[in-house]
Amino acid sequence: MKFFIDTADLAEIRDLAATGLVDGVTTNPSLVLKSGGRFVDLVAEICKAVPGPVSAEVAATDFATMLKEGQRLAAIASNVVVKVPLTADGLKTCKALADQGTPVNVTLCFSAAQALLAAKAGAAYISPFVGRLDDIGTEGMDLIADIVQIYANYPSIQTEVLVASVRNPMHVVQAAKLGADVCTLPPSVLRQLFNHPLTDKGLQQFVADWAKTGQSILD
Ligand code: E4P
Repeated sequence: MKFFIDTADLAEIRDLAATGLVDGVTTNPSLVLKSGGRFVDLVAEICKAVPGPVSAEVAATDFATMLKEGQRLAAIASNVVVKVPLTADGLKTCKALADQGTPVNVTLCFSAAQALLAAKAGAAYISPFVGRLDDIGTEGMDLIADIVQIYANYPSIQTEVLVASVRNPMHVVQAAKLGADVCTLPPSVLRQLFNHPLTDKGLQQFVADWAKTGQSILD
């Protein structure tokens, strides 16, 4: 499973990209607001920091303007993926951009029926939001299971399932068990994945015992 990071914070992106574990980046208008800066410049910098796919979302909601914005964003760098909302106009934009060879991430997906439409519109990625479904008392991961199963029924579907609105490491593990293609993680969740108290405890013991040997591997 590929790991994208879900942030527009350039310092975080550079820091986590240095781990070699980041395959791409997703942003959205709320994340851009939080990070500040001019959006198109920010996208250009993120694209330099991470060679993988970088999702940049259109701001308009009508087809004509979304298409123009999408073309503008796609021209920033070859690894830009244009993000559009799962609306009728959004899917029309998706189809038009996909036909021009631009990869599109369809966002704000909350049902399997919507995911089917996005695949038909030629989306490179579908972004179902698991955390926001959990927040309203439904099981977000059930949606991932449904979409993975449906897409697997049709080998012609090339759309990748990008699990979004991830809130904790269990979401990541569950998404991987279901065979989702990508998980986009807030930086805090990616950092949490490294941690286990038994790792810390075990390492502490090994370091202490090694010191007692009085040896150096590098001597
Ligand atoms: C990713 O593409 C989404 O914009 C993001 O994961 C949304 O997450 P949130 O529900 O925590 O805002």
